[in-house]
Amino acid sequence: MRNFAAVDLGSKKLVVAIARASRDYLEVLATQRENSRGIGRGIIRNLREAKEVLKASIELAERDSDVQVEEVYLNLSGVNSEVVSALGKTVITGERITKREILRAMETAKRITIPQNRYTIHVFPTEFTVDDQEVDEPEGMFGTVLQVKVQIITHLLTVVRNMENCVNGAGFYIKELVLNQVGNIYSLLTKEDRNLGVAIIDIGAETTDVVLVLKNEIHRVFSYEVGGKDFTSDIAIGLNTPVKEAERIKVKFARLFTGEEEEIIEVPLMDGSEKNISSNELYGIIFPRAEQLFTWIKEDIVRAGWELRATSGIILTGGGALLSGLKNFASSFFNTMVRVSGPQKLENIKNLSEEFLSPEYSVLVGILKYAQEREGKEEESAEGPFSFIKRILGGKKWK
Ligand SMILES: Nc1ncnc2c1ncn2[C@@H]1O[C@H](COP(=O)(O)OP(=O)(O)OP(=O)(O)O)[C@@H](O)[C@H]1O
Ligand SMILES: [Mg+2]
Repeated sequence: MRNFAAVDLGSKKLVVAIARASRDYLEVLATQRENSRGIGRGIIRNLREAKEVLKASIELAERDSDVQVEEVYLNLSGVNSEVVSALGKTVITGERITKREILRAMETAKRITIPQNRYTIHVFPTEFTVDDQEVDEPEGMFGTVLQVKVQIITHLLTVVRNMENCVNGAGFYIKELVLNQVGNIYSLLTKEDRNLGVAIIDIGAETTDVVLVLKNEIHRVFSYEVGGKDFTSDIAIGLNTPVKEAERIKVKFARLFTGEEEEIIEVPLMDGSEKNISSNELYGIIFPRAEQLFTWIKEDIVRAGWELRATSGIILTGGGALLSGLKNFASSFFNTMVRVSGPQKLENIKNLSEEFLSPEYSVLVGILKYAQEREGKEEESAEGPFSFIKRILGGKKWK
């Protein structure tokens, strides 16, 4: 069993989990959380700072766990990511379908033109057909023509290269990149959700990542350069209070509803004096930001031809989803069922404390589950030349 690090490098926090995977479960050996540095709106803004904090965090987790790691599963913000579908086909040469042929079919699908400035981070096979009949797992089946439908998720090459440079500079290398939206799918969705359809909205500190999932496929991904920190800045500016105070006031008092019972909040001002405001005034400051973000999301959802009514609704996650009243506000804004959720079902992840059930850790836990799927498969059959196929395929259809 190899040890690896799962890393969620966010705009606010950097979380590391060192783990090892076996076929059936994953064991967490150490976790580490820091304030992230050098990251802004989901991408590297200061390479030196990002490298330093990443190196320090992984090394601390290494010390805690008493193991060394080389490989990192790293998240990637969804800003500038895209998903496209493609079909691939191959003729079966022998009697039965082999892994090599599955890979060949996938490769032909990947041949659809991906612009030179983009990098493929995920290729998920979503449908296999053998001689025009849909099958779950083609390997070992009889047939003459194998067709595969894949979903390809790409990102800007420069963003990926800078991430790689950062990880390598810190002394590690990237085993796989995991798009935030993909991490959230692994973390939050049951098989039923994946099939019935759901929208996940991950409100981070400086970005919001959205994914629409239906019939086991990623229908669309959207990302916005807006997050919880913007609510904090609105409060800081609106009340003329330092950012640190604005953050405290937001977490403790801000709520997305007005009420008869007004609370009076003491606000320290920039000049050292204080003033009192009511909770309804605070609502007036944060409401426009929430409304603007949800309006953008709604427009994109409508443009994508997505019928929220025909799905199981919306899951809100990420630290920003903890804003009081957001669930009900989202529910009436989108006119659908909404739940606020953190990672689901930790049963095959051993030794991860309960605090990781918070929505802030959805991406990290999703990366752990994703890594478990990959590493577990490699463990299952360390068959050398084909292990790279499993890495692309995840061994089977994505569901
Ligand atoms: N109880 C709370 N009420 C309101 N906001 C909260 C609460 N707890 C955390 N937040 C906000 O959540 C945000 C951090 O979320 P998260 O940890 O998901 O961000 P991140 O992953 O580091 O950033 P990003 O995904 O944008 O790169 C901060 O803006 C913080 O103020
Ligand atoms: Mg995040």
